Amino acid sequence: MNRELQNLILNDKIQTPAYVYDLDLLQETLNRLKAAADKYFVKAHYAIKANYNPEVLSLIQQMDLGIDTVSAGEIELAGNAGFSFNQISFAGVGKTDDEIDFAIRNQIESINIESLHELQIVQERAALLQMQVRVALRINPNISCKTHKNIQTGNSYNKFGIDISNLALAVHLLKQSPNLDFVGLHFHIGSQIQDMVPFIRLAKLAEHCVHECENSGLKSEFVNFGGGLGIDYVNPEINSLPNFDQFFRTLRTHFKLNLPIHVELGRSIVGQCGYLLSRVLYRKEFYGMNDMFIIDAGMTELMRPALYQAKHKIINISNSNTSLKEFQVVGPVCESTDSFGMQSLPENTERGDLVVICSAGAYGEVMANSYNSRKLKMPLAYSKVVA
Ligand code: LLP
Repeated sequence: MNRELQNLILNDKIQTPAYVYDLDLLQETLNRLKAAADKYFVKAHYAIKANYNPEVLSLIQQMDLGIDTVSAGEIELAGNAGFSFNQISFAGVGKTDDEIDFAIRNQIESINIESLHELQIVQERAALLQMQVRVALRINPNISCKTHKNIQTGNSYNKFGIDISNLALAVHLLKQSPNLDFVGLHFHIGSQIQDMVPFIRLAKLAEHCVHECENSGLKSEFVNFGGGLGIDYVNPEINSLPNFDQFFRTLRTHFKLNLPIHVELGRSIVGQCGYLLSRVLYRKEFYGMNDMFIIDAGMTELMRPALYQAKHKIINISNSNTSLKEFQVVGPVCESTDSFGMQSLPENTERGDLVVICSAGAYGEVMANSYNSRKLKMPLAYSKVVA
């Protein structure tokens, strides 16, 4: 976190736990994204599930990005935030009839179909509404990637997308569905992916799928490669900007067809600009091990460590002492998994110190809950433009 923002926070008597967003960093990230997208002719969508804090959304809205959604609630949210419906795609394995109808009525960019059964239902709903609907086929490519198993989505054992061996059948069904207009293919292999190799494999496989569709008479308008680009949780201050350039270059180099490439990024856009601000409550000695700090934020505010064993760097912003020691840092919630793991903190960290949990902008505030009847400070977010 930059000094200016630290000083603003320290002077501001913010109640903790609270989310703080560095909107300057978000803007810089968006500018980088835009420049890389323009360079490689990529159309970027924002995966709104990652963070829909109103101030974060309003900055993103000014960048002319598309939006990736996974529920009618998200489509509505995006519409209310000023995004155009014709730039909204809608994925998800369990779309309800109401959600499908809502998407059809709003003439969104594409409903991304995740099963043969869903294809039939979307056709039925569109026929009832007497409307045409733009659909993409979300294919499960059976490609794994090096990330936590709970955030992989493209393996054959995951629930997402159409089994690639059913592509021909999906194409066949689509051609017999008068209300469905095929617009493209969609993939999403997982999240927090830092190694480009799975994307290279995906690009090759996508070429093959486009050809298969074309041979059966379905022309793709675009290929959507999903999201997943990772961020640096270990050194967030040094690497606060993700490598969009490398990601887009990889896709463009290995996907050799002359078609628009779409991506839908969540974490890489908002991850590093968000901090969970917390106060140290207690220090406790424990069985001769390193001392433990108990802070007032926990898995209720940030679920990622408990759900994915994620490690988020913690910094004491009240104490700039550089003599650091390893401490276990835990939250107050009555669950053993409510822990932020071992963290380097100043030796003389004490009760009342303000700490920031870094890289919490993606899947932080949006996944917060009130377990243990903890009071969420609503609105939880505290945003500040760094002057
Ligand atoms: N597209 C689809 C269809 C998705 O399901 C997701 C994320 C994205 C795009 C954006 O992926 P990203 O660029 O953010 O990696 N709660 C987990 C992450 C779950 C991701 C869900 N889908 C976490 O905190 O790590």
